[in-house]
Amino acid sequence: MTIKPLRKAVFPVAGLGTRFLPATKAMPKEMLTVVDKPLIQYAVEEALEAGIEQIIFVTGRGKSALEDHFDISYELEATMKARGKSLSLIENIRQKPGSPVYVRQQEPLGLGHAVWCAREIVGDEPFAVLLPDELMVGGFMKQMVEAYNKVGGNLIGALEVPAEETDKYGIITPGKIDGRLTEVLEVIEKPKQGTAKSNLMTPGRYILQPEVMKILDNPVKGAGGEIQLTDAMAQLIGKQPFHGFTFDGQRYDCGDKAGFIQANLALALARDDIGSVVRAFAKELLA
Ligand code: UTP
Repeated sequence: MTIKPLRKAVFPVAGLGTRFLPATKAMPKEMLTVVDKPLIQYAVEEALEAGIEQIIFVTGRGKSALEDHFDISYELEATMKARGKSLSLIENIRQKPGSPVYVRQQEPLGLGHAVWCAREIVGDEPFAVLLPDELMVGGFMKQMVEAYNKVGGNLIGALEVPAEETDKYGIITPGKIDGRLTEVLEVIEKPKQGTAKSNLMTPGRYILQPEVMKILDNPVKGAGGEIQLTDAMAQLIGKQPFHGFTFDGQRYDCGDKAGFIQANLALALARDDIGSVVRAFAKELLA
């Protein structure tokens, strides 16, 4: 089996972020900041660190702040330069000309549909999908790419959740387990309480083969009436290698208010510049 190298990553950012209203009424959810960086930047940095060369954003109306974030900000840069301020915090965000590539989803019909909107840019290559509202600390995609380069095929995250939460996620039916790799026999999106075959959920990191796009050509509505990526990729099980990958690091669900606060607190405490002040305040608050 030849393993095609992974070069492209799709970032679906066209969702409405209704769980985070009112913050997300006029601002993209993916631009919410954890300490001082928007979620989308954490995800892009994670992909670049993993060796991804082409960034593809699936956007929608009202998401122009995302595009501006990766562009030059002439006014800001000129003013900062004139005032003798360092540009170090903004100059490496800008991507090279022609990158990222932006495609429009037009209507938020579900994650599967969002990924399918990138089909012309993905072409006949394997590709990664990163959901930026899940903040991963510890280089999730880099670890996944290392595993992919050994086993090829399709690789999805596989993380343990408490049994009572399995109805919120895509859940894996596991086969053979080999270290951090779990053979995937089935993935079921949001199984009803008590029916899940394991407590291994699929977080928002995927490496998929391009054949999934052909499946999404004929979409079916799944859980929540949405076109689910899980349903489409599940059809590749048994036809191509399909593994779950358990990463060594921390996941924060920043699409959820509590997860977002946890991420801010954890990352702030880990910072050299503000960690001690935040720790002292948190202790005082809890006392
Ligand atoms: P979510 O389901 O968490 O995002 O999708 P959402 O729909 O924006 O949020 P809620 O549930 O209403 O609060 C995870 C990622 O997939 C993108 C979202 O932008 C988010 O980054 N997405 C989701 C799309 O791009 N298109 C869709 O149709 C759905």
